[in-house]
Amino acid sequence: MTDVERREAAPPDRPGWDYAPAPEARDIVSLRERYGLFVGGTWLEPHETYTTISPATEEPLAEVAQATREEVTAAVDAAREAFRDGWSSLPGAERAKYLFRIARILQERAREFAVLESLNGGKPIKESRDVDLPLAAAHFFYYAGWADKLEYAFPNRRPHPLGVAGQIIPWNFPLLMLAWKIAPALAAGNTVVLKPAETTPLSALLFCDVLRQAELPPGVVNIVTGDGRTGAALVASEVDKIAFTGSTEVGKAIRRELAGRPVKLTLELGGKAANVIFDDAALDQAVEGIVNGIYFNQGHVCCAGSRLFVQESVVEEVIAKLKRRMGTLRVGDPLDKNTDVGAINSRQQLEKIRELVASGAEEGAQIYQPPCRLPERGYWFAPTVFTHVAQSYRIAQEEIFGPVLSVLTFRTPEEAVEKANNTPYGLSAGIWTEKGSRILWMAERLRAGVIWANTYNRFDPASPFGGYKESGFGREGGLHGLEPYLGFE
Ligand code: NAI
Ligand code: MG
Repeated sequence: MTDVERREAAPPDRPGWDYAPAPEARDIVSLRERYGLFVGGTWLEPHETYTTISPATEEPLAEVAQATREEVTAAVDAAREAFRDGWSSLPGAERAKYLFRIARILQERAREFAVLESLNGGKPIKESRDVDLPLAAAHFFYYAGWADKLEYAFPNRRPHPLGVAGQIIPWNFPLLMLAWKIAPALAAGNTVVLKPAETTPLSALLFCDVLRQAELPPGVVNIVTGDGRTGAALVASEVDKIAFTGSTEVGKAIRRELAGRPVKLTLELGGKAANVIFDDAALDQAVEGIVNGIYFNQGHVCCAGSRLFVQESVVEEVIAKLKRRMGTLRVGDPLDKNTDVGAINSRQQLEKIRELVASGAEEGAQIYQPPCRLPERGYWFAPTVFTHVAQSYRIAQEEIFGPVLSVLTFRTPEEAVEKANNTPYGLSAGIWTEKGSRILWMAERLRAGVIWANTYNRFDPASPFGGYKESGFGREGGLHGLEPYLGFE
């Protein structure tokens, strides 16, 4: 038999495949019962605490601090002192040494961090192991390389650090967002006060261990945990720069708060990305891109391809292939190495997803979910696709931030562009076609900060990331990502 014949003789489908459980061992992570605030290189005993849990089981993991305004001020003071006492005047090559050390330690301790990230956040171990950790280390390696080259990166502009950077991050990529924020800030010579999201503080707290191991001078990085009140206190404090990733609503509030104050600001906010499939695209490949675009990290991704635009002539074929592929997604234990879709990050997020999905059904869209058994405890939502969606429906307009895809159609490239741009957001987009000229034509017209062609959700520390319109402003990654942490003469 030739290869082709053999392939055709094989059964076309593979229903009923079972996977034995393959859980990653948890004992590599040793949690403390209680965590304080990491300020000036030491742990401060907090005034208030709360319990952080595993969203997959609702099991309590540790007590962590709910930092008060005074405690945030202490952290900012420690960062100010470290800035004045040497960090800002350290030669770039010296700063680079610390960043290289952090990168290497993250690589060495990658499994420990990956398990903790999945435990506290609910994402599949496959993803924290293969995406979050390697990319976080890569960001430190990348920005280590720039630390002694700032004058060449910005010739004739005499770059200098700003001072203390306040950084507020979300829960969807806790350690990776920490790396996106801390690496360029330190490379540029700033010191940092970082606030992780309230549902996922543990990897940032373990990172304090890495800072000590790397012998980073005390106070250069300070970590304060807590909810939005702690974030608001950080924004109101005497910082020189705020970097925020999170909801558009909070981003707007921060911008209002900072109006009239000499604080540099970057906002990386929500998205409602269009993933556009033309009829000449390699459809099986495109289906993989659609799945990666919306079911990766349970759809808790600001650049998720949550609006699928399919050219009308292939819509039936694409939907059939997509539904079949969705049937193979394994939903369940984030620590199982075979899991594709893990737990929803919090009860609050689960409620938001449920509410928007109910609105989709009510407004007239047709819902499809593959058969799958969800665990009884914890927060779960089955991979979902909506067809017969009108542009005006809430599921086509609002960020759901869950494993929920809305399918729309188009006939011409012009129509695809018009519909794709019909959103208050502008973070990312995907284009699937065999024609290079069409990719360029589309990329010129789509109002989105990042555009992927025949792929989706690809990240590299050398490549800038950020949005237009209500998706925010400023870029992270690449040379562009250094600029918001520098002043120029
Ligand atoms: P959020 O914007 O409230 O939280 C993000 C971070 O901001 C957290 O660290 C939080 O503690 C902090 N924060 C909250 N209120 C603050 C305030 N007034 N001042 C300063 N910091 C504050 O997002 P949330 O409530 O967790 O999620 C709501 C929706 O936001 C999600 O359903 C999703 O649509 C969107 N979102 C988008 C993200 C993105 O990556 N673009 C990340 C997280 C959420
Ligand atoms: Mg919120």
